[in-house]
Amino acid sequence: MTAEYQVNGAVAIITLNNPPVNGLGLSTRTAVVEGVRKALADDAVKAIVLTGAGKAFSGGADIKEFNSPSAFAEPSLHTLINVVEGASKPVIAAIHTVCMGGGLELALGCHYRVAAIGAQIALPEVKLGILPGAGGTQRLPRVVGLELALNMIVSGTPVASEKLAKTALFNKIIEGDLMEGALAFAASIADARPLPKVRDIKVDYPNYEAFLQFSRNTVKAMSGPYPAPLKCVEAVAASVTKKFDDGIKFERDLFIELVQTTESKALRHAFFGERAASKIPDVPADTPVRSIKSAAVIGAGTMGGGIAMNFVNAGIPVMLLETKQEALDKGIATIRKNYENTMKKGKLTQEKFDQRVGMISGTLNYADIGQADIVVEAVFEDMGVKETVFKKLDEVMKQGAILASNTSTLDVDQIASFTKRPQDVIGTHFFSPANVMKLLEIVRGKATAKDVLATTLALSKKIKKTGVVSGVCDGFIGNRMIEQYSRQAGFLIEEGALPEQVDKAVEKFGFAMGPFRMGDLAGNDIGWYIRKRRYLEKPEITYSKTADLLCELGRYGQKTGAGWYDYKAGDRKAYPSALVNDMIIKHSADIGVERRKISDQEIIERLVYSLVNEAAHILEEGIAMRASDIDMVYLTGYGFPVFRGGPMFYADTVGLPNVLMTMEKLAKGRHGDAWKPAPLLVKLAAEGKTFN
Ligand code: 3HC
Ligand code: NAI
Repeated sequence: MTAEYQVNGAVAIITLNNPPVNGLGLSTRTAVVEGVRKALADDAVKAIVLTGAGKAFSGGADIKEFNSPSAFAEPSLHTLINVVEGASKPVIAAIHTVCMGGGLELALGCHYRVAAIGAQIALPEVKLGILPGAGGTQRLPRVVGLELALNMIVSGTPVASEKLAKTALFNKIIEGDLMEGALAFAASIADARPLPKVRDIKVDYPNYEAFLQFSRNTVKAMSGPYPAPLKCVEAVAASVTKKFDDGIKFERDLFIELVQTTESKALRHAFFGERAASKIPDVPADTPVRSIKSAAVIGAGTMGGGIAMNFVNAGIPVMLLETKQEALDKGIATIRKNYENTMKKGKLTQEKFDQRVGMISGTLNYADIGQADIVVEAVFEDMGVKETVFKKLDEVMKQGAILASNTSTLDVDQIASFTKRPQDVIGTHFFSPANVMKLLEIVRGKATAKDVLATTLALSKKIKKTGVVSGVCDGFIGNRMIEQYSRQAGFLIEEGALPEQVDKAVEKFGFAMGPFRMGDLAGNDIGWYIRKRRYLEKPEITYSKTADLLCELGRYGQKTGAGWYDYKAGDRKAYPSALVNDMIIKHSADIGVERRKISDQEIIERLVYSLVNEAAHILEEGIAMRASDIDMVYLTGYGFPVFRGGPMFYADTVGLPNVLMTMEKLAKGRHGDAWKPAPLLVKLAAEGKTFN
């Protein structure tokens, strides 16, 4: 049963019971309608209380159902709400924990609403690229007012129930036992007639036209490629400008339009992708985890400092270890400065600042970190240095401690082999700036213990990262793919494009930053270092020499004041560089390439499909467990446009046979060998299937 029915004295209690969050799928809707009908038919029942079992009143419509016919099958959410609202006996929603989306719309269809303190109230549909489609845009303004309703619907942000106590949304906020309070409330209104209906309230907002116009302008300017926020404004506007039933119809039409957009499909994909990433088939959810109460970080450089901040922000004290006092002091001073900046922006109180800074300590001595529950190594990207560090860690760390490496490309299995406890070794690949970027690639070595993996996944949630598990290979998921993308970017400028054209095309596609601006930000020397290693290890791989020539000029990027672009002191704005552009053009001549005009479409196809093809190999080899994991890596770590759903989802929307056809065309061009399609891509395209 997805909703339970019981009678308590003169009150029928209908309890939504569809774990995990009482999503209003077809079977739940059916069960509630049946419950209401049963209560209406029972003369002994004077009132109905509707509530939710477990950790939610209701998280809303069942999002998993959206792509299936049951989403619109009867009884639809509209029908359910009409049945509740039209009931001849009072229906009281008893709300707790989570009341969102369709859950709130259902509650708004009830005659009365009581809520526990701290219940999270929201119409978050906009975050999924849709709008409340079961009356939310028409009923919420009628109880909380036009302005607050518009803010809640356009932002999707939850508001605590007690903050809404003064609005007509709730008849009562209940401090003690919710069900006890709801039953007492039901008894107090059981005979009151007529039954109040939200639909009968008039939205009263003087000069609403000016307000709505202002809202349209503001929301339009802020919503970028997403159609939903502006449609939310239009739907809310209908609550003032149209009769209730017309408003409902208008809202429904907009909902149906939005649910079919690629933007909404992409956002829903990302919602489920994020949750799927934490599920490892051979590591069940109830795998015991190790307790993480303290941490140590080796190396207080760019990454070490940011990693330490993550722990501290989550209330885990951390000790940083360096080889020299000067480096340690510098690292800790940088962390302090970061927190000072946050405090200056008003985002951190003095008390929290003191607490956080108080949780950071430093040492030059390995013996001091031996009792930490986890240690993350973030020293230079050099196997020799990693070997020294891990041998030392093996000597000093207590048994059961997790030994993690932040390596971005090196073999985690080899790193684990430097210890006598490879089962405790794992890769935790943070992204720069580590205290900001959402992605954490968790690299599972061949010996990594299941509880170590489960603990690291739980830790990633605790420090508010999206943890995605990768197998061991050079570059793991993200950097292995980006290498192909960078190679294409290099070939493109060799063949006729210039860095600013490539960056502009990619940014127009929706990436946060094009490859050349990104290189300047991250430091072009990092790629140079990796390429030099590749020239020795894998001489068969071809690269454009332009990036090496750039580095030979000392133009490492923003940190040296010059890279692919010129920079002015104290300014991060990138100015196209005549010197670099001349160098690129001369290089094309030197290698005998006749430069040609390259279209933005070609730029996007070559860059994005190079990601897709490598990703298909990664998926086939089992380095990534699922296509959505790859999408999550790119959405949370590489600035891939969320409204396109990630590289794999994007390829699915283009159609894999189309992707393949373009790749076959590219294979006939220069460096055509880079376009040999991955067997998985060929297979899926032939079978008419998709990655996701
Ligand atoms: N439908 C189906 N499944 C849902 C769901 C929903 N509305 N909301 C959450 N879930 C599932 C998640 O996929 C996850 O499943 P899993 O355990 O199998 O991975 C599980 O519930 C728990 O989710 P979280 O990990 O996010 O748990 P939290 O406790 O951190 O958060 C939550 C709970 C606040 C409800 C959060 O899940 C959330 O924000 N959900 C989305 C709510 C939403 O957008 N509702 C609107 C739906 S659209 C709608 O109602 C349309 C209507 O207007 C017509
Ligand atoms: P960095 O050069 O800024 O910092 C490294 C720090 O380690 C320095 O402070 C150095 O003094 C210290 N160190 C070196 N050897 C040490 C030793 N034996 N014991 C203790 N401390 C030692 O380097 P960065 O950028 O922080 O990189 C660190 C690691 O993180 C590398 O493995 C890198 O590949 C990886 N990484 C870097 C990213 C980046 O964007 N910079 C992103 C993701 C991973």
